[in-house]
Amino acid sequence: MSQLVALSDGPSARKVLVMTDIHIRSEGQKIIQLDPLEKFEMALCHALALHKDADCLILTGDLAHSGKVIEYQRLNNALQLARNAGVAVHLMIGNHDNRENFLQVFRDTPVTSSGHIQQVVDIGSTHRFILLDTLDGPPFSHDKNWGILCPERITWLTEQLDHAERDEKAVIVLLHHPPFELGTPGMDLIRLQNGNELMDILVQYKSVQQIICGHIHRTISGNIRGKAFAIFKSPCHQLPLDLKSTDCSLSTPEPGAYGILLLKSDSIVVHTEDFELADIGKDFSCKDAIPEWQINTDNIN
Ligand SMILES: [Fe+2]
Ligand SMILES: [Fe+2]
Repeated sequence: MSQLVALSDGPSARKVLVMTDIHIRSEGQKIIQLDPLEKFEMALCHALALHKDADCLILTGDLAHSGKVIEYQRLNNALQLARNAGVAVHLMIGNHDNRENFLQVFRDTPVTSSGHIQQVVDIGSTHRFILLDTLDGPPFSHDKNWGILCPERITWLTEQLDHAERDEKAVIVLLHHPPFELGTPGMDLIRLQNGNELMDILVQYKSVQQIICGHIHRTISGNIRGKAFAIFKSPCHQLPLDLKSTDCSLSTPEPGAYGILLLKSDSIVVHTEDFELADIGKDFSCKDAIPEWQINTDNIN
């Protein structure tokens, strides 16, 4: 979109943190011997210590492993660290989530008129994030791991894309389920079921610059029909790089990661931080994530 070159937010980039597939469980419950909450808090402490200047943190679904209210309550408590650091949090849901239970805890999350957890977030004057809800339910079932965008969600999306085009925004579309095959057969089976329909819409809009997905638990990037895409690892458990297996339940304890987007008026740069590898020998305390004036050592675990 040529107009973007003429717009400017100044020389420094705006920053957005992305974490995906954190899979919070009830106390004491683990995933391949990893504690999802502990891993998420490690990622959060690391990100907030190094990137307090981020505009926001977006979580791209599979927030809770079993979609239970208690899991969302544990997540809500953990997110207080980001709120204390002054970083806004925007939440999306994935196949492991339960929309009704999620909304019992996160009551203020924007919801469309059709009841779906979709919203628009502007960063600076140039970039617009469109956050989609690809959960196939209700009814919610642990057997339904693929994603779907029903007609109501598609209609809402096209309205937002029309607004963004009119407002001359660079658009970043975020959804939990990738809408195309990635060469990982097991996960390809549970991608967005109407991915072709979505891509047929996105390619009509020059303003759509970037697609961000979750669900896969691996670092992947590329280009689909002229649109850039990026996928990040989970802070917790990862998908082994197996380009033959049709098993979508494979998991490996490779180091956790999160994404960092740097936005300028004419560019989107996508970084990934393997936080458990990057700072070996450094001790990032949660204290580092909170502005000094807010630190009350009595409240820090
Ligand atoms: Fe996941
Ligand atoms: Fe998922």
